[in-house]
Amino acid sequence: MTTVFVPLDTAAVAAGGDAVAAAASQAGLEVVRNGSRGLCWAEPMLEIEEDGARLAFANVAAGDVAAIVDQREGHPKCLGKVDEVEYLDRQTRAVFDRAGIRNPLDLSRTTILQECLDRDPESLIAEIETSGLRGRGGAGFPAHIKWRTVFDTPGEQKYIVCNADEGDSGTFADRLLMEGDPHRLIEGMTIAGIAAGATRGYVYLRSEYPLAAEVLQSALDNAYDDGLLGEDILGSGKAFDLELFIGAGAYICGEETSLLESLEGKRGEIRVKPPVPAISGLFGAPTLVHNVISFAAVPAIMKHGGAWYADMGVGRSTGTMAFQLAGNVQRGGLIEVPFGITIDEIVNGFGGGTRSGRPIRTVQIGGPLGAYLSPAEFDTPLTYEAIAELGAGIGHGGIVVFDDTVDLARQAHYAFEFCEVESCGKCTPCRLGSVRGKETIAGIIEGRDVEQKLTIIEDLCEVMETASLCQMGGMTPIPVMSAIKRFPEDFRR
Ligand SMILES: Cc1cc2nc3c(=O)[nH]c(=O)nc-3n(C[C@H](O)[C@H](O)[C@H](O)COP(=O)(O)O)c2cc1C
Ligand code: SF4
Repeated sequence: MTTVFVPLDTAAVAAGGDAVAAAASQAGLEVVRNGSRGLCWAEPMLEIEEDGARLAFANVAAGDVAAIVDQREGHPKCLGKVDEVEYLDRQTRAVFDRAGIRNPLDLSRTTILQECLDRDPESLIAEIETSGLRGRGGAGFPAHIKWRTVFDTPGEQKYIVCNADEGDSGTFADRLLMEGDPHRLIEGMTIAGIAAGATRGYVYLRSEYPLAAEVLQSALDNAYDDGLLGEDILGSGKAFDLELFIGAGAYICGEETSLLESLEGKRGEIRVKPPVPAISGLFGAPTLVHNVISFAAVPAIMKHGGAWYADMGVGRSTGTMAFQLAGNVQRGGLIEVPFGITIDEIVNGFGGGTRSGRPIRTVQIGGPLGAYLSPAEFDTPLTYEAIAELGAGIGHGGIVVFDDTVDLARQAHYAFEFCEVESCGKCTPCRLGSVRGKETIAGIIEGRDVEQKLTIIEDLCEVMETASLCQMGGMTPIPVMSAIKRFPEDFRR
């Protein structure tokens, strides 16, 4: 019987994947619901297994199935052999190497968990230090420092918490991993638990990801059934319990201290730091908080060695980064490559320019609190250091493309509005600054006292940047001031 693969991933389903799978089933084909390979522009992507290889077809509709099976390579939607599709072939997949290949629940643990259970915590932490892994949630903080701090801090109960709140605009890497290879995350968190001396873990998952919740919960159930979680992991005598927690549906709950408050059942409000969560986190206990992709990188690092990981990338930006290309772009999707690739290679090389066909005017990197950059800067390599020199940040790796119809004054207005809506309200510069900023930009858009108002915005941004309690208020000035600096003509109309 012919086997076809149709992703169960949210993006594929949104584009009609379920109907394609049903049509294939009705046509008598064996249907496997795999995860997505991250070619969002091609979803729903159908693959047919043939002589051990797979042919891929892009943007398949239910009505295409019969002709695809009949015509194979001759069908106009055929992309060729999936492994040879340029968009995939040009990537280096260390974290997403299994995503999209099979049913996500068939992808169980690798042998590396057993090996890690036999290693002492110190050697696991040293491996992470050698890898140079930095947190993929946004701040890029060296992972091994957090691991060591949790390990060294006394406490009867320590916790591992996965930040799967993924609130940044244009980002979907966490979702893709959880829907495509959930065992990779479970394994990474388990290894972190063994290393840091934590026996309980939680995945804090954004409420807007019901499908990821379903897949992850099934994977957790399987992991318990297979002895990969629980009191005695694989007979090692070591324990690690892991639970899924559905988030509160607020951007600010992605900030780690707010997330911990929410996980404790309280309102998602920022905690003053210090103490950092690694010292006093969930219920006041030492807690290792990482993003999904940070944990998911751990099994590959343990398998191939920290030095292998550190060999990829540039300088202190080691390993691969899962960039997520979105917005007005022809080929949006997940692009896992070593740090050091230029913005141009991502946006024009992989992305193929704008979907509208008009010139690119700007890209926003790093989510709603990220900077707007101009095409003159597109030859900048994507490393933490080079992007910081532009006054920007890589954040969680989201890159959103805009064509020349974008109005950067309206984007600055949106930045303040976003902060107004999502602010936790605990500190004045953010709670009130966002409202006043929005009103002032509205005045600029209407052409009233523009120069005076631009001075006010500059002062306000300085206050928000320096006096906000967390980076929500602290980073809102980045999109605003980057827009004013690079696109002054949109403000002085
Ligand atoms: C307003 C705000 C929102 C955030 N949202 C997220 C998020 O959705 N996911 C995430 O992993 N980190 C988010 N972070 C970063 C976390 O506070 C924290 O740095 C991260 O979870 C640590 O994981 P890492 O070491 O893997 O980067 C956010 C930070 C701020 C200030
Ligand atoms: S900066 Fe905003 S989100 Fe952060 S603590 Fe202050 S009010 Fe809350």
